[in-house]
Amino acid sequence: MELGLTGRKAIISGANRGIGRVIAATLAAEGVHIAALGRNLPACEEAAVELRERHPGLTAVAVKVDLEQPPTIDPAVAAAVKALGGVDILVNCAGGAYRGRLEEIPDEMWERYFKVKPLGLIRMTRATVPHLKRSDQGRIINISGTRGREPESHSMMSGPINFGTLSLTKAMANEFGPSGITVNAIAPGSTRTRRWDELVGITARERGLGIEAAERFLLEEVPLGKVIDPQDIADLAVFLASARARLISGTAINVDGGRTRSI
Ligand SMILES: NC(=O)c1ccc[n+]([C@@H]2O[C@H](COP(=O)([O-])OP(=O)(O)OC[C@H]3O[C@@H](n4cnc5c(N)ncnc54)[C@H](OP(=O)(O)O)[C@@H]3O)[C@@H](O)[C@H]2O)c1
Repeated sequence: MELGLTGRKAIISGANRGIGRVIAATLAAEGVHIAALGRNLPACEEAAVELRERHPGLTAVAVKVDLEQPPTIDPAVAAAVKALGGVDILVNCAGGAYRGRLEEIPDEMWERYFKVKPLGLIRMTRATVPHLKRSDQGRIINISGTRGREPESHSMMSGPINFGTLSLTKAMANEFGPSGITVNAIAPGSTRTRRWDELVGITARERGLGIEAAERFLLEEVPLGKVIDPQDIADLAVFLASARARLISGTAINVDGGRTRSI
């Protein structure tokens, strides 16, 4: 399938590890030039070097941004756009959630994590949209999470952070549609990253299980019985970024092995 991605340019936040890094690698494999943004600049540089080595001729640059420090955002986007010579795709992937129940999460953590997502996502998008408007294939892909649709008390913070991201996705699709920009969200279920390892560890401790048994226990609620791989998220991101998805906008797609109960 011709995806119409060769030579396109993407800014990806949270591209130095986890899901964002795999999205960067998968877009690069389709010929997309990459600006890898994150707080940890050496890790972003490592990711960019890997992309350049794997795809000679590709532009891949590392740019430091700390979404908890709003004044770093506009200069980071400007630097990325300058290095790439424009931008067609913005992937807002940076984020996470402090694990715990309402009474366990200190106020400071609510404020810190909300600054990254959804506030950082808002600021990244606001800085990038003027440039996306110049593209004939403008795309915004927001990485949300299934807890935005189905909150859980043991992961209290994931609910509002990802619900806010879903709501913004819909409203941004309305706002930027007339400029030819599509806006969509991907909602991962528990994905095999550091977060999954933590979750398995906590479940093993709380239930007195070994690691493999804890993993089996967690997968009981996943109809397809498998942990999501970051590549599963990246493959969908590539499709949503492609010319093939030109009329898909304002939607959110779960990648969760069927775990979410609502439709
Ligand atoms: N993994 C899952 O099971 C899961 C499930 C649902 C949703 N998600 C969502 O998927 C996205 C990626 O998750 P992941 O599991 O791949 O996370 P991860 O491995 O913890 O990576 C998080 C990324 O966000 C960046 N980031 C965090 N704080 C930042 C800040 N203040 N400024 C700039 N960048 C910052 C990190 O960069 P630095 O290293 O430079 O800080 C890193 O690249 C997140 O939005 C998360 O909410 C993940």
